[in-house]
Amino acid sequence: MKIAVLGYGVVGSGVVEVLAKNRQSIEKKAGCPMEVAYILDRKDLTDALSAGKQVRDFSVILGDPQVDMVVEAMGGITPAYDYVKAALEAGKNVVTSNKELVAAKGAQLLALAKEKNINFLFEASVGGGIPIIHPLHQCLGANQISEIAGILNGTTNFILTKMIREGMSFTQALALAQQLGYAEADPTADVEGLDACRKICILASLAFGSHLYPDGVYTQGITKITPEDVQYAENAGCVIKLVGRAAKGADGKVQAMVSPALLHRDSQLAGIDDVFNGILVRGDATGDVVFYGRGAGKLPTASAVVADIIDAARASGTIDTLQWEDSDGNNLAPVSQYPVTAYLRWAYTGKGEAEAFVTQALGPCQQLRRPGQPEGEWAFLTTQPLTEAELEQGIQQLEKQGFEMLSLIRQLDY
Ligand code: HSE
Repeated sequence: MKIAVLGYGVVGSGVVEVLAKNRQSIEKKAGCPMEVAYILDRKDLTDALSAGKQVRDFSVILGDPQVDMVVEAMGGITPAYDYVKAALEAGKNVVTSNKELVAAKGAQLLALAKEKNINFLFEASVGGGIPIIHPLHQCLGANQISEIAGILNGTTNFILTKMIREGMSFTQALALAQQLGYAEADPTADVEGLDACRKICILASLAFGSHLYPDGVYTQGITKITPEDVQYAENAGCVIKLVGRAAKGADGKVQAMVSPALLHRDSQLAGIDDVFNGILVRGDATGDVVFYGRGAGKLPTASAVVADIIDAARASGTIDTLQWEDSDGNNLAPVSQYPVTAYLRWAYTGKGEAEAFVTQALGPCQQLRRPGQPEGEWAFLTTQPLTEAELEQGIQQLEKQGFEMLSLIRQLDY
C-alpha cells in the first residue's frame, strides 16, 4: 500500500513516525506492506523520516495510480477539501484528522467514497487518540443512541482545570496553555467552543444518521467564566466544564448545544481534567458508556489515523456502517424548546428581596454562597426545569426589575 501524507505538522509527522516505529505489527494487522511514498508540505522538510519523499505539488500524488491511500493532516477547509475530494474521485482511500472538514463536508465526502466503493475515515477528528467513531458505528451498533455528551476540547479543559484547582483567571490559564503548547497561537476556535461544536456535530451526525451542521448549533465558549463562578459552582458541589451535547428528542429532531456547564462532582465527566477528553454515549442496551483519554497531541492523534489506515487497508469496499445522510438543517430542534436548569449570577442592589424576585421569574431556586461574596452579588441555581424560552423570559423580567446578569451557566446531570 502506497501512502501519501498531506501536511507534515504535528499530526502528519506523528503518522509517519508511528508507521515507521510499529511498521511490522501495523503491516501484519493491515495484511499488506506499507510505504509512505509522498509527503506534501510547503516548508522544507529536513528530518530523516521525510527524506526523499517531499513533494510540493498535489497533482504528483493525484497522478500516481499506485497511491491508494491519502492521509490528510493539513487542517482547515482550503485546500484540504479540494484535495480530499479529488483523491476520492480518483479512487484513493482518504483518512483525515480534520474535524473542520468532516463537520462541514462529511455527508458529501462519505457519499463520494461510497460511490467509488472506497473509504473516507476520520477516527482522529474527534477525541484524538480515544476510539469513539469506530465504537459508535461498530461496537455500539446494536443500540439506539439517545444522547452523547463530551468534554471534547483539551485546551479549554486544561484552562478550566487550572481555574478550578489553582484559582487562576481565564487569562492566566490561557497564557499558561499557550506557553505549554496546548492552545493554538490563535485559540479562538478552542475558547469560543467552535472546535467542540465541530466534534459534537460529527458524533451526532454518525449517531443519529443525518448531517448536523455546526452553523446551526448554539455555541458558547468559556471566555466569560470567572473565578467567582468557579467558587459558586463549588458551593453547589459542582465543577464547570465545556460540554458539547446532542440528544434525540421525541419528535426525532436533534437537540444540540455547546456551552460551559455545571456538572456535579459525582458526574462521570466531572473528573476528566487537564488536556484529557471524555465522551459519554447513552445507548438503550448498554446504558452509559464513557470513553476517556488524550484528546489531542502528536502520537495519540497519529494512533487514531494509523488505525484508520489499517481499517481501510483491510476493508473490501466501503464500510457501510460509517455513513449518514445529508440534511437541510431541519434535523435540528430550535434551542427555545430545550429543557434547561441553570446557574445565574446577578448584581442587584435594588430595594426588595432578590430571592423573591428570582423565584417569581424563574421558579424555585437554590441560593449559592462564596467566600468574600460582596453585597449586591447574588447567585442562584434554578431547581425546576424550564425551557430555554422560559429562561430567557425570566432573565428579561429580572433585568426590567433592576437585575444585571453577570453569568449564566447551564447545569447538566450526566
Ligand atoms: N485544539 C484541539 C483541542 C486539538 O485542544 O482539543 C484537538 O482536536
